[in-house]
Amino acid sequence: PRVAVIVVAAGSGTRLGAEAPKAFVGIDGHSILRHCLRGVFAGPAAQVVIVAPAGREGDALTDAETVGPRELVTVVTGGATRQASVAAGLSAVWADVEVVLVHDAARALTPPDVFARVIDAVDATGWGILPVLPVVDTIKRVDGVEVVAGVDRSELAAAQTPQGFRREVLDAAYASAPAEFTDDAALVAASGHRIGTVAGSERSFKITTAADLERARLLVAGVPD
Ligand code: C5P
Repeated sequence: PRVAVIVVAAGSGTRLGAEAPKAFVGIDGHSILRHCLRGVFAGPAAQVVIVAPAGREGDALTDAETVGPRELVTVVTGGATRQASVAAGLSAVWADVEVVLVHDAARALTPPDVFARVIDAVDATGWGILPVLPVVDTIKRVDGVEVVAGVDRSELAAAQTPQGFRREVLDAAYASAPAEFTDDAALVAASGHRIGTVAGSERSFKITTAADLERARLLVAGVPD
């Protein structure tokens, strides 16, 4: 299928405690966004839509040009929420695209094989597809400080990105989104579509805190660019 990857990179990154918007924070000599795009361009994307913070569109394009063909790249300005940013990206997807992947720039070290698994599963099933990892922690449901219930972790999975959808399914779900969701699979599920999973990766962790950034630095250290 003809695939577009929407890379949402318009978050502020306040939890990282950095001055710059998170996508432009350096891991080594290169930004979170550039590392992410290197993984995206390793796959079969026919279009890469970068959703950038207002005022940083040119910087996003500069990062993209160093790792992939300029003619595949579209840069749009993000919104106040992740969902608004994805909607902005979706409106810029080319007419002939059949499968759309939505990916967090903050999952900068996601390996190319995860993209391939998601695309193959969307193609084979027509479902929405997300990569997941088993939950390793024991999880409690709490009310303030009090534990209300335990939760059977064998029934749980931790959701990652890229999340993939047939283009018309994602378009329709966004056109009628009933609320704010923290990922696209939840939004698409709310519109009645089936969602499936493929194996995620430990390397797809979302760089959110300073400790996450340190982990990313250790992982890329010594790996030639
Ligand atoms: O805030 P959170 O870590 O969940 O953000 C996940 C991804 O969504 C990040 O890559 C971030 O840049 C992006 N995002 C966005 N627009 C927003 C908020 C988050 O593109 N308004």
